[in-house]
Order: sequence, then C-alpha cells, then structure tokens
Amino acid sequence: MEEEITEALARIYGGRVLDIGTGDGYFIDYVQRRIRSHDSVVAVDISKRIMELYKGRYGAKHVLMDSSEMAFADESFDTVTCSFSLHHFERLEDSLREMYRVLKTGGHLIVEEMYCDGNQTEAQQNHIDWHHWMAAVNRFSGLYHRETYKRDEIVSMMRQFSCVDQIDFYLDDTDIFDKSMLDDVSSTIEAYSSKITQMDGSEELIARGEAVRKESAFTGLCFPWALFLIGKK
Ligand SMILES: C[S@@+](CC[C@H](N)C(=O)[O-])C[C@H]1O[C@@H](n2cnc3c(N)ncnc32)[C@H](O)[C@@H]1O
Repeated sequence: MEEEITEALARIYGGRVLDIGTGDGYFIDYVQRRIRSHDSVVAVDISKRIMELYKGRYGAKHVLMDSSEMAFADESFDTVTCSFSLHHFERLEDSLREMYRVLKTGGHLIVEEMYCDGNQTEAQQNHIDWHHWMAAVNRFSGLYHRETYKRDEIVSMMRQFSCVDQIDFYLDDTDIFDKSMLDDVSSTIEAYSSKITQMDGSEELIARGEAVRKESAFTGLCFPWALFLIGKK
C-alpha cells in the first residue's frame, strides 16, 4: 500500500503547493519527500494557535485562513494537498469548491482521509470509536469536528476532478497492543473526560470514553482504513 502511494507521488511535479488544514505540517513533509519536485509550499489553517506553533515549519509560508473562503487568485497553485482534515471542515462544499478554484488546470489535488465503514478489524473499529468520541467531546465544547465520512462519500467529494489514483491503505505494521499507544489513548481519554466534567457535561459521554478505553486495552488499537486520492483538474 505504502509503495503504491510512493510510486504515485513520484510521478508528480509539485510546482507551487498549497496544503490546507495543515496542522503540524505532517503532510507537507510526507508529500515533499515523495513528489518529483516542488518550488514552494503555502500552508493554510484556521487555528491561530496552530499557525503560531508551526510557522515556517518544513519551509512553508503559513497563512491563517479558512479553507471555505481563501484569499488566493484563481488557478494560482500547481498542487493542492489536504490530509485528515475534510471531516474538520464545517463548510465542506465551499472548501472543496475553493480547492478546485485555486488549482491550475492540469494541476493535482492530493487528499488522504480515514473512512468509518468497510471491512475494519476490531482494533481499527476501536480507533474509529476513540476518534468519534473525541469528535463528540470537541463538538460539546463548540468546535466543529464531525465523525469521519464513509468511503463512498469521500470518493464523491472528488467528482469535479478526474481520478488519477485511488489507493485504500492503513498502517499495517502497527502492534495493536503497543503499550505507549494504549497509554496515549488512556491519557487522552482522561484529559477529555476532565474537560467534559469542567463543562458540566454528561456522565454518559464520560462513560462512553471509558468503554472505548477498556475495549482498546482488550482488543487492541489500529489506524483505520483510509483513502489516498490523487485527482487532476
Ligand atoms: C486533524 S488536523 C489535520 C492536520 C494535518 N493535515 C495532518 O494530517 O496531521 C485538522 C486541521 O484542520 C484545521 N481546520 C479545521 N477547519 C479548517 C478550515 N475551515 N480551514 C482551514 N483549516 C481548518 C484544524 O485547525 C486542524 O489543524
């Protein structure tokens, strides 16, 4: 799976790259190392905190901006990238329209996104439940974070682009009972639960988090299936 993605990216001349919903810049680094070449990278995120934390990382020019309303000219990027962020975009249709608008004709869109349906193992389902629970806590605190999409929903988001590559993947080298990973799940659940308590939140939501923690310790945890999509405008 990983080799297929590496081969697909090696065919791309990146030119001027835009990474949307950039976070800590993980995807800039990942793509930059694998594409044939690139000239420059602009990184966009809606979070001021994230922009301040990661400004300039991986040589990118960071810009605080909402993906649904970007202040870039039409057709101003050769490549647009977006990883694990689509389910964070409150105005998804507008964001997809903007991605298309700022991309040059003949340019590439590179997207990766986890999906919640399909043939997931118990350990993968635990990861989905964990992630969906954190999304529910985020929503409770007023932050937009929906559950991950179904596979077909992600594919249909790319309908404006002609499909170049569509690769299903997951990290298959994970030790599903890795202690530090399970400890990380426990401490995240603990931190999120105390946030719920501080907000006078529901006991039911706290109990759901505890159930996820127990189930993960019992049947393991593994990154769910995701789609790696390359489209062309
Ligand atoms: C799960 S993180 C993904 C970060 C990174 N791309 C990765 O793969 O690790 C989602 C990111 O999208 C950002 N985000 C959410 N809504 C956004 C919007 N409307 N416009 C730009 N960024 C947004 C969040 O602030 C967050 O940094």
